Amino acid sequence: MAKLKPSKGAPYARILGVGGYRPTRVVPNEVILETIDSSDEWIRSRSGIETRHWANDEETVAAMSIEASGKAIADAGISAQQIGGVIVSTVSHFKQTPAVATEIADKLGTNKAAAFDISAGCAGFGYALTLAKGMIVEGSAEYVLVIGVERLSDLTDLEDRATAFLFGDGAGAVIVGPSQEPAIGPTVWGSEGDKSETIKQTVPWTDYRTGEVDKFPAITQEGQAVFRWAVFEMAKVAQQALDAAGITPDELDVFIPHQANERIIDSMVKTLKLPEHVTVARDVRTTGNTSAASIPLAMERLLATGEAKSGDTALVIGFGAGLVYAATVVTLP
Ligand SMILES: CC(C)(COP(=O)(O)OP(=O)(O)OC[C@H]1O[C@@H](n2cnc3c(N)ncnc32)[C@H](O)[C@@H]1OP(=O)(O)O)[C@@H](O)C(=O)NCCC(=O)NCCS
Repeated sequence: MAKLKPSKGAPYARILGVGGYRPTRVVPNEVILETIDSSDEWIRSRSGIETRHWANDEETVAAMSIEASGKAIADAGISAQQIGGVIVSTVSHFKQTPAVATEIADKLGTNKAAAFDISAGCAGFGYALTLAKGMIVEGSAEYVLVIGVERLSDLTDLEDRATAFLFGDGAGAVIVGPSQEPAIGPTVWGSEGDKSETIKQTVPWTDYRTGEVDKFPAITQEGQAVFRWAVFEMAKVAQQALDAAGITPDELDVFIPHQANERIIDSMVKTLKLPEHVTVARDVRTTGNTSAASIPLAMERLLATGEAKSGDTALVIGFGAGLVYAATVVTLP
């Protein structure tokens, strides 16, 4: 058997820059009330959501990603040519092939970077970040661009009381690169496919094409079941990520959970017994649930507003359709 040369990567990886893009159209709860029987008070008290952004025709998955990525590249202080990998996590890019990551890699001016899409719902950012870290430590790329992007307004049934108010559009991006010390902890991740029916697309595209259904497919969910799972199981996963990184809640500066529902966030803060000094992302209020984009968008906003600062230690956890989850501790860029 021939002896292969070992791959030579960086000792560790870290997030070097972050960028976000929120569509220009801000949609208040009043607009949602045009199509469902609800109230601004109910939506705010049950979900925390006050407004969300919906993309226009020009704000495509690629266009929003390119905007967010440009900011992340500038924030990291690198050039696009240095990027060796582009990973896009999305469930709302409607062209099955090719991967939108290739278009983004080209338009950003990377030097033929490896580029691919992944589908991991609201855990997509954590999944992609874990892959990026592996690529850097393994040596197949020096810098990797990770993008979480969604146009969930295209997949929302505005007449469905259980979901019409929840979703928003946007893109968040980070540059992951080499580090001399650990700055992205071990990922605690997994899937529970036995619960795959709790959040899903109503019908396959093919049913719509053949005319079996006349309503365009949308995301549907069993709100209470998902809520219970998130509250009980995800706090455990978050704690496991802290343990894996060797961090106590006292040593944490920032908590960036998936922005799905503010009551889920409150419950996790309580179960994890996070001390007062920990800054908690509550971007859901003005962004809604943007699935794979939610964590990088929330991270970008906390840093932009000064609520978090470079070098802070942050716990991030994403969870959603699959059901899937991914949690890790990171040093903020
Ligand atoms: C969607 C969600 C906000 C609904 O809140 P909830 O408290 O579970 O609401 P329920 O579905 O139990 O409904 C409670 C009551 O409100 C009513 N209701 C449901 N939707 C409503 C709406 N949009 N407006 C007003 N009332 C509504 C119900 O009819 C029910 O009334 P009843 O008590 O008279 O029967 C919540 O379940 C949730 O956030 N789930 C998790 C979502 C999530 O995180 N998803 C993505 C993970 S990635």
